[in-house]
Amino acid sequence: MSEQERTFVMVKPDGVQRGLIGDVISRFEDRGLKLVAAKFKQIDRDLAEEHYGEHEDKPFFDGLVDFITSGPVMAMVWEGQDAVRQVRGMMGETDPAESAPGTIRGDLGLDLGRNVIHGSDHEDPGSNEREIELFFDDEELVDWERVDETWLYE
Ligand code: RTP
Ligand code: MG
Repeated sequence: MSEQERTFVMVKPDGVQRGLIGDVISRFEDRGLKLVAAKFKQIDRDLAEEHYGEHEDKPFFDGLVDFITSGPVMAMVWEGQDAVRQVRGMMGETDPAESAPGTIRGDLGLDLGRNVIHGSDHEDPGSNEREIELFFDDEELVDWERVDETWLYE
C-alpha cells in the first residue's frame, strides 16, 4: 500500500446545526478515506484562537472565533493516500460561492463565513499534525484496517 497520511477535518457549527454531519462523513467514507478519530464537542475560545492562530492579525479573526465557538463541532481525523490534499479538493474553495458543484462547500454552502467544513491546509505542511495534536490525544487515534483497503489501493 502507498504512503498513508492523516488530516484534521471539522464540521463547523453551521454544518452541525444544518444537519450535514452525515453527508460530510459519507463523502469521505465513499471516497475510501478511513476515519481514525472523531469527537463531537464545543470549542472554547482558547482552543479556537490557537487553531486559527495563523489568522490572528486578520480583520475577520474575532468574527471567525465567535462563529467557531457558537455551537458544537464534529472534529475528526481521516486517513488515506494523499489525504490532506484530497480532502481539500473535496471541500472546494474557501468561499462556497466560488466552489465547484460536487464539492462540499459548492454543494452545501453559499457564504464565505458559513462554509460548513474545515480541513488541514496542504499548502501549510505540518498543519495536519499540529491540528490533530491540538484536538486529540494519541490514544484517541485508532489504528485499524478497512476491509476494502486491498481493493482501494493497487
Ligand atoms: P478553514 O481554515 O476554515 O478550513 O478555511 P480555509 O483554509 O479554506 O480558509 P482560511 O484562509 O484558513 O480562512 C479561515 C476561515 O476564515 C474565514 N474567512 N473570512 N472575510 C474574509 O475575508 C475571510 N477570509 C477567510 C472563512 O470562513 C475561512 O473558512
Ligand atoms: Mg485554513
